[in-house]
Formats: sequence, C-alpha cells, structure tokens
Amino acid sequence: MEWKNQFEDYINIVNGKLEQYFNMPIDKNNSLIEAMKYSIFAGGKRIRPVLALASYQLFANNLEEVLPYACALEMIHTYSLIHDDLPAMDNDDYRRGKPTNHKVHGEGIAILAGDGLLNYSFEVMLADALNRENPKPFIHSINEISKAAGIHGMIGGQTVDLQSEGKVIDADTLDYIHKNKTAALITAPLKIGAIIAKASEEDIENMEYVGKQLGLAFQIKDDILDIIGDQEKLGKPVGSDEDNKKSTYPAIHGLDFSINRVQELTNSIYDILSKYNEKSYFLQNLSQYLVDRES
Ligand code: IPE
Ligand code: IPE
Ligand code: MG
Ligand code: MG
Ligand code: MG
Repeated sequence: MEWKNQFEDYINIVNGKLEQYFNMPIDKNNSLIEAMKYSIFAGGKRIRPVLALASYQLFANNLEEVLPYACALEMIHTYSLIHDDLPAMDNDDYRRGKPTNHKVHGEGIAILAGDGLLNYSFEVMLADALNRENPKPFIHSINEISKAAGIHGMIGGQTVDLQSEGKVIDADTLDYIHKNKTAALITAPLKIGAIIAKASEEDIENMEYVGKQLGLAFQIKDDILDIIGDQEKLGKPVGSDEDNKKSTYPAIHGLDFSINRVQELTNSIYDILSKYNEKSYFLQNLSQYLVDRES
C-alpha cells in the first residue's frame, strides 16, 4: 500500500474511534461536551495516534489493542493546545483552521474542556486496561503516557516555556523546553505502541530513541513554520512566537541552522528504522513528511 493511503487509513481508524468515544448522551454538561468536541474534531493532523498505531504494527497486528491509547494521546494533545492558546499562555485566536476554543466557548469553558479531555483520556485508558486479561503492558503504557503528559513531560516543558518569555535563555534550557513540551508526547506513542505489542526491551528502546529525535525535530519545525509558514495552510497564526517573545530554535540558533537540524535529527533515525525492513517504510515516509510539512 502507498504510504499516504496507509496514513489515511490510520487517520480514519482513529477518527472512527474518537467519534465513538464522543458519542455521549447530552445532559446538563452539553456545553462542556460541545467545547471538547469542537477542538477534537477541528481537524488536527493526528500525528500522535498515528505514530502509536504505526509503532504497534511493527511488532503485532491486532490494532484494536492500541487504539484506545492512541485516541487518549490525541485527547491529551488537544487539551494541551486548548490551554496553550489561552490568553494567560500564548493568547492565540486561531487553531486548526478555526477560532480557538476560548474565542468560541469562553475562557472558563475552554479551561474546563481541556481538563475534561485530560481526565476523559485516563477514563478511556483505565476502562480498557481493566478489561484486559493481562493488563500489565496496558498499565505500563498508562504510566508512560502520564509521565509524558505531566510534570516530567509536557506540563514541565510548558512551564519553562512560559517562564522564559522575554528572557535570554541558553541552548540547554531551550532543549529542555522542546524535549518536554513536545518531544515527550511524540515519544510516548512510539513507545507505548511497542509496549502494547509486547515488543522486546531493545525494540521499546529503539522506538523511544526514534520518538525523541522526531519529537525534537517536530518542535524545531513548528518554530520554523511560525516564522516562514503560511497561516492559511498552518491553520494557526504565524508570528505568535515573536509576539510573545518566545525563545525558539531559530531565535537562538538561526533559521538555516534550524532547518538543517530538523533534517539531521530525522536522518539519525533511518538506520534504526531500517532494522525493521519494509515494515518500517511507513514510519520512514511519515518522518520525512514531517520534515517537509507546511502545516
Ligand atoms: C502543535 O502540534 C503543537 C506542538 C506540539 C508543536 P501539531 O502540529 O501536531 O498540531 P495538530 O494536532 O496538527 O493541530
Ligand atoms: C506548544 O508549543 C506545545 C504544546 C504543548 C501545546 P507551541 O506553543 O509552539 O505550539 P503552537 O505553535 O501554539 O501549536
Ligand atoms: Mg506555547
Ligand atoms: Mg502556542
Ligand atoms: Mg509553535
């Protein structure tokens, strides 16, 4: 199968399952559910859940096993975007091609919609793990995801990102921000895909390495697109980082260095992926697509 068709297939599988998860009865919390659905179905690239499915398929074939965790990762990622856009954080008005959550639903509901998505992700994962005959790999995965999303990962990185606004920071601090705010939630899907597929320790470590390299490259590319991207294609504002006096890769290392670094980091995973032969073609193609992406 052409890798792009595989990509579409994975996205459809994820979207189908998300539709199920959000097909909940309407009650007093209707405005909360509407706000959660507004951002979840606004049209994200679905990179994180797709990485989970692709990593899993290097080692096993029963995709249904990993799907709840892939969807949970997308819920956590979407919550992080809703909160990232709030006036108290990046104060952005446009996301996934639509007005940001707080612009439509108000700040209070946007905060609660983020909280709702985070908690629902754990509800979905734990309900699944409880029903597994051998829950260990599933619980292991929930542990990995909670670390990647929390103080040792995304929230930790977002905190230093926020505290560094308007300041001169060194390259190590910038690396800390990028590795935590973004690479952690790119690494987790690759890692848990392997864990749930009961891959070997070595394979799990390989996927973790791939995630760290791809995740750092992903945020550097995001920083680059914030300067030279096209707002219509991106579906979010260009120039937000400069407005917020953010420390970014291009700001600290220059644009050319940053562009080269994205390719270099991505090149560093091809040897490892090649060990998995033609099974890894999808991940190889996806990785290069992430380098070349315009959105
Ligand atoms: C944007 O992530 C935030 C970052 C961590 C850079 P994506 O570029 O994956 O956003 P969506 O999910 O496609 O909207
Ligand atoms: C956000 O980084 C990372 C998150 C954890 C949401 P950015 O603030 O650069 O992401 P965008 O550019 O708003 O998508
Ligand atoms: Mg931000
Ligand atoms: Mg932002
Ligand atoms: Mg950005």
